[in-house]
Amino acid sequence: MKIAISGKGGVGKTTIMAMLARQLRRNGKEVLVIDADPSPHMAQTIGIENVERITPISEMKELLAERSGRVEGSPFYNINPKVDDLPARFMLEKDGIRLMVLGAIQTGEGGCACAESTVLKRLLTKLLLQPSQVVLLDMEAGVEHLGRGTVAKADHLLIVVIPSQSSVRTALRIKKLAEEVKIPRISFVGNLVADAEDEKFLTGALGEEPLAFFPDSPRIRKTERAGEPVITVPGEMAAEAQQVLDKIGLKAEG
Ligand SMILES: Nc1ncnc2c1ncn2[C@@H]1O[C@H](COP(=O)(O)OP(=O)(O)OP(=O)(O)O)[C@@H](O)[C@H]1O
Ligand SMILES: [Mg+2]
Repeated sequence: MKIAISGKGGVGKTTIMAMLARQLRRNGKEVLVIDADPSPHMAQTIGIENVERITPISEMKELLAERSGRVEGSPFYNINPKVDDLPARFMLEKDGIRLMVLGAIQTGEGGCACAESTVLKRLLTKLLLQPSQVVLLDMEAGVEHLGRGTVAKADHLLIVVIPSQSSVRTALRIKKLAEEVKIPRISFVGNLVADAEDEKFLTGALGEEPLAFFPDSPRIRKTERAGEPVITVPGEMAAEAQQVLDKIGLKAEG
């Protein structure tokens, strides 16, 4: 399964995705996290150092070249690659979680990451996954990336939303665009939810109940401020992450 995440800036997309990655590992799944944010932040969140050693996906262009005209024995994929076929230089691994980065370069003038998006789209289209393998796609904030069509290759889009009007507005816009690009399943996930009133506000404003409500965690904030990977805070947000996984059909095995 390929799961993408979206939402307004700073609502906790990367944090929640890291918690999902950890929970999937605990459940015995193989996890590949793709950081497709032009300002990547996932490595720090899951504790992968020297992230600059990863060759970005944007340099996978030749490898993923179209099948036509390619001769056998060439370094190009003429069949759909499996996760284990991807050259090691494209990923780093920590505690069983593999990380790849997009490598998009954006200019201050809002330059487009179009070329990188095309390569990522092709990878997501071609990559053959076993049922035990899950790809998590961390995206930049807002709605722009929906226009580039990368998330359209996901099986399920999670939209993170915090209890504020502006976050809800963005979430509803993202949902509408995601429906237009025909992402098969779209769900909301609440974050920084303090109490029943917050839960009620979100469910009412969104018109449906989010899959889970993640609390505002003082331990996460403290760990992040100390420059430590938040994924290392034991047990934090595990129950909520498992609830999301159960509801999207990724139940724990055994
Ligand atoms: N439930 C939570 N409890 C406490 N702190 C949180 C929680 N969720 C996120 N944070 C903190 O809020 C900040 C923003 O979170 P994060 O980077 O995950 O958001 P994001 O949506 O990925 O942001 P961006 O739009 O910049 O990619 C981080 O400092 C993170 O540690
Ligand atoms: Mg992020």
